[in-house]
Parts: sequence; C-alpha cells; structure tokens
Amino acid sequence: MPGLWFSPVCLTVICFLSWSLPSSCSQIWADEVSDVQYSRLDSNVTLRCGKSQSGTPVVWRLNRSSALPWHRVTSDGSLVLLQVDQSAQGNYSCYDDRGLLLHSVRLRLGHPPGLLSISCQVPNHTHVRCSWVESVKTFLPAQYNASFRGNGQEWRPCIVDFSRKHCDVDDPSFWLPIHTLRVTETNALGFETTYVRFQLHKLLKPDPPEFVMAEQLEGYPKRLNVSWNLPSSWPLHGAFPLMFQIRYRPQGSMYWSEIYTEDSSVVILDALAGHVHQVQVRARDEPNPESQWSEWSPQLLIRPWEVYVTADPVDPFSDDYFNVDTDPETSTAKSHNPTHEDEGNLGLVNLLVLFSVVILTTVLSLIFVVWMRQRRRHHATKQELTSMVKMKSMPI
Ligand SMILES: *[C@@H]1O[C@H](CO)[C@@H](O)[C@H](O)[C@H]1NC(C)=O
Ligand SMILES: *[C@@H]1O[C@H](CO)[C@@H](O)[C@H](O)[C@H]1NC(C)=O
Ligand SMILES: *[C@@H]1O[C@H](CO)[C@@H](O)[C@H](O)[C@H]1NC(C)=O
Ligand SMILES: *[C@@H]1O[C@H](CO)[C@@H](O)[C@H](O)[C@H]1NC(C)=O
Ligand SMILES: *[C@@H]1O[C@H](CO)[C@@H](O)[C@H](O)[C@H]1NC(C)=O
Ligand SMILES: *[C@@H]1O[C@H](CO)[C@@H](O)[C@H](O)[C@H]1NC(C)=O
Repeated sequence: MPGLWFSPVCLTVICFLSWSLPSSCSQIWADEVSDVQYSRLDSNVTLRCGKSQSGTPVVWRLNRSSALPWHRVTSDGSLVLLQVDQSAQGNYSCYDDRGLLLHSVRLRLGHPPGLLSISCQVPNHTHVRCSWVESVKTFLPAQYNASFRGNGQEWRPCIVDFSRKHCDVDDPSFWLPIHTLRVTETNALGFETTYVRFQLHKLLKPDPPEFVMAEQLEGYPKRLNVSWNLPSSWPLHGAFPLMFQIRYRPQGSMYWSEIYTEDSSVVILDALAGHVHQVQVRARDEPNPESQWSEWSPQLLIRPWEVYVTADPVDPFSDDYFNVDTDPETSTAKSHNPTHEDEGNLGLVNLLVLFSVVILTTVLSLIFVVWMRQRRRHHATKQELTSMVKMKSMPI
C-alpha cells in the first residue's frame, strides 16, 4: 500500500479501530477499503481486481452502487475508467459472480505538484520566513521539504510548517549578497522543486512601530507630540538603528506632511489649529537605503490643544477626543466647566440686581409719597394758622 504512509490520520484511525474492535477487525479490512490508488485527473485509470483469474466474470461497484462512470472492463476483470473527473473518486469493489468480494480500492484523483510561488519576509537581521502558494491545485495531500543556503555555503534546512505552508531560517548569513531557497513539494503523483534567489538586505522590512501615541501639547494649538516604540521583533541594542517616517494631515486633506527621525518621538510644529489630524508612523533599517519601509502603523486621530472661548455644547468633533491621550483632555474639560458655572452665576446676579432695583424704586416712591403728604399737611396747618391769625385780627 504505497499511498497510505502519506496519510498518518488514516493510519491512526485504522490503528484505533484495530485496537478497539479486535474481533471485527478482519471484517472491516475485507468490507472496507484497504488500499488507496492515486491517479491523474483527465487520464484513463485502470483498477485491477486483485488476484482474479483471467476469464472469470466480475462485477464492479462504486460506493456499493452499481452506477459507474464512463468505463470498460477488460478480459482480466480490470476496470478502465475513461477521462476521469473528480466525480469518479470513491471506493471501488469487485465481486465474483457469486457476489463474493474479491478486492476493493479507494480512488483519489489529482495532479502532480507544479512550481510554487514563493515570497520571503525578513523582519530583522536574524530571521527569514518564506511562504508559498501552489501554482497548480493538486487536490492531493502534499509534503514539503525546504532548504536554504548563502552563496557558496552548504544547504541547511528551512524548518517547515506544513499546515501554514511556510518555513523559517534563523541567523542567516546576512552579509552574503545572494541566498537561495529550494522547496520540494511531493505528493502521490510526483514531486517538483522550486528555486528562488534573493538578496536579504533588499527584503529586510521591519514590522511597524508599536504603541504609537499622539498627544496635545497644552498651550500650543499648532503642536502635536507623536511617540512610539520600536517593533518588538527588532533587536533593542543599538547595533541596528531604525529610521522613522511620520506622516500627518488634517482629516479630509489630500496631502500628507512628513517628518523623518531616528528618535522615538517627534513634535509636529505646523498642525492646523482646531482640526482633527490623522497620524501614522513607519520604520526602515537606517543604514540600508535598499531595504523596505515597514507597513504604516494604524491611523491615529488627534486634535491639537485649543482655548475654549465660548461654551459650545454641540461640538461635532467631540467624539474624536476619545482617541486622545487623557491628560490634556481633562485639563481642557476643567477649563470648560467653570464657564458654564460662571454663566449661571451671572444670571443669578442679574436677577438679584433687578430685584433690588425694583425694591429700591418701590421704597423710594413710598418715601416720596409719604413726604408729599407730610408737606401737604404742613402746608395746610400753616394755612390754618394764618387764617386763624387773620380771623383773630379781624374786628369782631
Ligand atoms: C471508503 O472507504 C474508506 C476507507 O475504508 C471509508 O472511510 C469511507 O467511508 C468509504 N466511503 C464510502 C462512500 O463507502
Ligand atoms: C483513454 O482511452 C480512450 C479510449 O480507449 C482513448 O481514446 C484516449 O486516447 C485515452 N486517453 C488517454 C489520455 O490515454
Ligand atoms: C463516493 O464516495 C466518496 C467519498 O468516499 C465521494 O467523494 C464520491 O463523490 C462518491 N462517489 C459517488 C459516485 O457517489
Ligand atoms: C529533504 O531534503 C533534505 C536535504 O535536501 C534531504 O536530506 C531529505 O531526505 C529530504 N526529505 C524528504 C522527505 O524528501
Ligand atoms: C512627547 O511624548 C513622549 C512620550 O510620552 C515624551 O517622552 C516626551 O517628553 C514628549 N515631548 C514633549 C515635548 O512633551
Ligand atoms: C526577529 O523576528 C522574529 C520573527 O518575528 C522573532 O521571532 C525574533 O525574536 C526577532 N529577533 C530579534 C533579535 O528580535
């Protein structure tokens, strides 16, 4: 059974079955299919009926049914399937004229491997990962064997992860200009080896900077402080400096502004006051201009610090503050609230003043009225007196 060692799962299942069902084991082997035959799609496939004698008539069944794909049966009882497609796959059994099972075989169809399409990622000077995709869909389980070498060096294994179709090399000889990777794909129908040559220093592409933050600078409406960490896959000691590119623009603008630095933070001096900005950072190996820039870090949204002159309760951009580091925000929030309180106080004071003015006016008019009366009465008594004096002086 040449094909079975390609499928360890199948072996495990059979082992498990033979262990758990020792008595019926022989029956399973007789009834079910013990053999797998791999053949190419679109070809004519011949299935032999075991040790059947030439001349004895046999009956073929597929999945226990007598419906077979396009075929003919030869004189020795072999089944020839013509130009098979995927639907011809299944369990084939042949029986003698008394209905006794002579032989069964499982047919699997596919293609031999084709060349692979290989790409390699180099996130730092000590690691290479190459991944591949098939250029031909084979429909069959495959094994991969990969090895790697620098120009003039021995081949060394590239450790394969079968399920994810990639392999890893640690500590490649980075100083060598050319490296070669070969990957051999093997399946039941054949094998194919693909070679790729590449220059590690040109493939070197760091991961994006991590923990990128943008902060307002209190008191500076046109400034933003952007800071980040090195990618965690980049060695921390200073032997491999990184160059960083920061790009930013007011939200909605088409044009990015850029800053280059080797530090891990930068202050943007020309932000557009009062506008939300998009900020991103990427990295590249500094001494090696042929290496590649990392992907951009995820986009950050940040608005520079602002003075709040008028209280504007409906702020269309207020949501953007959630992306902002909290410290400057709380300080602006603090300066926000007193304005509201002041306004309330002002109203109260106005009311009080109005009230006292009203009271004062009332009191003053009362006083005036009282004083007028007093004066009138005074006047009256004076008149009375004079008239009395007049009356006295009149001759009786
Ligand atoms: C074909 O045989 C395999 C292996 O014995 C078995 O697992 C599978 O169920 C069979 N399929 C059919 C349709 O009988
Ligand atoms: C398959 O068999 C048919 C009929 O015998 C023949 O005409 C055809 O050329 C064969 N095809 C291949 C690929 O051998
Ligand atoms: C036979 O069974 C196999 C699974 O074992 C299935 O893939 C295939 O389509 C079946 N073929 C037919 C003709 O029913
Ligand atoms: C994989 O390749 C190595 C080196 O080329 C070789 O020694 C080994 O036998 C191969 N293994 C398989 C399964 O082909
Ligand atoms: C910018 O932020 C970084 C990291 O939080 C900090 O180390 C640096 O001092 C800040 N720069 C300014 C000008 O506030
Ligand atoms: C290089 O990158 C690989 C993959 O990300 C990582 O496992 C390894 O630790 C990195 N090496 C160093 C020195 O950081």
